[in-house]
Amino acid sequence: MKLQEPQTVLITGASSGIGSSFAQLFAQQGYQLILASRSENKLNELSQSLHERYQTKSIVIPVDLAKPDGPPILYERVKSYTGTLDVLINNAGVGSYGFLHEQNITAELEMLQLNIQSVTHLMMLVLPDMIRRRSGRILNLGSTTSFYPCPLSANYSASKSYVLSLTEAVANELSGTGVSVTALCPGGTGTSFFRTAGMDKQKVASTASLMSPEKVAQAGYDALMKGTTVVVPGKQNWLLTQAPRLFPRKMITRITRGVLEQTL
Ligand SMILES: NC(=O)c1ccc[n+]([C@@H]2O[C@H](COP(=O)([O-])OP(=O)(O)OC[C@H]3O[C@@H](n4cnc5c(N)ncnc54)[C@H](OP(=O)(O)O)[C@@H]3O)[C@@H](O)[C@H]2O)c1
Repeated sequence: MKLQEPQTVLITGASSGIGSSFAQLFAQQGYQLILASRSENKLNELSQSLHERYQTKSIVIPVDLAKPDGPPILYERVKSYTGTLDVLINNAGVGSYGFLHEQNITAELEMLQLNIQSVTHLMMLVLPDMIRRRSGRILNLGSTTSFYPCPLSANYSASKSYVLSLTEAVANELSGTGVSVTALCPGGTGTSFFRTAGMDKQKVASTASLMSPEKVAQAGYDALMKGTTVVVPGKQNWLLTQAPRLFPRKMITRITRGVLEQTL
């Protein structure tokens, strides 16, 4: 069912993968879109194709969210286009692969800036207004690795644990305000994520079945609209996230390392 009054959604990392699938879903529902990432050309192409299919109005904002001033620059531009932001999809994120001590320090710190700081910063910028209006929805991208340590992807999995913990705590703080926050925690998803992280997607696909970004975004969208705090798309992925409740954490850490080593 389409919206009576068009609402506005900001989607970070909309240029590909799960973010692009979110853009499709919100466009179908009649939202006005604000699409953000670094690749202006890709965002313009997406905006054009959504306009042709759904007559969607989109605004494209190129921004680097791995820079500390990325979130305030983005927020100021959003405010200059729209008085009211109804939904924030905090999706932009990258991974890395390999032993922490062998990684490039600058790239690892930029990943933390993107996966942790920018998510927190954008939430803190949009929340006061949403709370004042007693209306708003936020979705943060976690991962199944939010639930356990993951050797060979230590910094990335820790960043996603942060996102889950932040989301659960803030969801509690927001109860009764009319504003909700949801953590979407997918397992392996068929996007450019693995290539960007320096992993071989074929090898990853041979060790785990990858979900489509469309399915992942749909699960996130449904949970967001219901105000669910945590959603893990797919039964197998959900089972994985329950393992730390049943087995010692050291054992889980050894197993995740074994799985990641198969993709070396
Ligand atoms: N794929 C998986 O298996 C998987 C599993 C669990 C969780 N996730 C999470 O899902 C989210 C989306 O990833 P994806 O799988 O859809 O991967 P993807 O296709 O590589 O998309 C990543 C998005 O983030 C944007 N981005 C990267 N660096 C950025 C920066 N510095 N500033 C602004 N935007 C930036 C990219 O756009 P530009 O390059 O244009 O900037 C792109 O739109 C991430 O948070 C990821 O951690 C993915």
